Amino acid sequence: MTAGVSNRAADAFDNTAKADYRAKHLDALREAAPELWEDDDRQRLRGAWLELMGATGWRTLELLVGAGALTERNFVGVDFDASRIAAYRARYPHARWLAGDVLDLVNSNELEDVSVLHYDGYEAAGSPRMAHVAEQLTTVLRRAVETFGAAAVVWNADLDACRLQGAQPATVLRAHARSLAALLTGVAGERRSFTHERLLPPGAETLVTDTRFVGAAGSFDVYRGKSTGHRMACVRVVIR
Ligand SMILES: C[S@@+](CC[C@H](N)C(=O)[O-])C[C@H]1O[C@@H](n2cnc3c(N)ncnc32)[C@H](O)[C@@H]1O
Repeated sequence: MTAGVSNRAADAFDNTAKADYRAKHLDALREAAPELWEDDDRQRLRGAWLELMGATGWRTLELLVGAGALTERNFVGVDFDASRIAAYRARYPHARWLAGDVLDLVNSNELEDVSVLHYDGYEAAGSPRMAHVAEQLTTVLRRAVETFGAAAVVWNADLDACRLQGAQPATVLRAHARSLAALLTGVAGERRSFTHERLLPPGAETLVTDTRFVGAAGSFDVYRGKSTGHRMACVRVVIR
């Protein structure tokens, strides 16, 4: 790979746990979102994939393009860091690149046909910012449902960040489920009821109290970003 974009030795997100996490996205979409595939064999995705990049989002791009699920033109990479985006643009000139806060960019042309949103900002689960985030991203997801009949969300949050403030992972996972349910309901409206209990059955949050726990907690895939790091809570949902 070209040097200058990712420093593998120092990169916390360039490891096998994160690679396994990325590999599950396509399986989940093949299983749950027939509307989002152009062909019966579910090899080529319709619409564009939106990725928060960081130093390692190129791995998602390569995974998707390498699998034939996407062309570079249908990959939209966003990051706050303009120099990082410039380096990506030089490396993958056919993809779409945007520097800035994705929440301010939801009406840009590049995002018009987004069908999959990979919200991988590593925000703390249960963050009070979620209401604002949801309000902006609802625009992108509603547009996808109107255009393709479905939208997919892969949402990755930091489950253990709360412990630094003395909060409990179980409590914040429930709060996170409530916020996500509100976001999904805001997109789908009355057509489908997204409840926090559906994402996380009552009591399932207690699984994460043991800080060694990784695995499924309701719809959340709890995994460790690296061997000694915080656990992440990922959910992959299709809205229609
Ligand atoms: C964990 S990294 C992304 C990792 C990548 N998706 C992967 O698979 O390796 C998160 C990145 O998202 C960026 N980010 C977080 N919130 C953002 C926002 N609202 N708008 C733009 N970039 C954001 C951060 O700057 C950071 O570089």
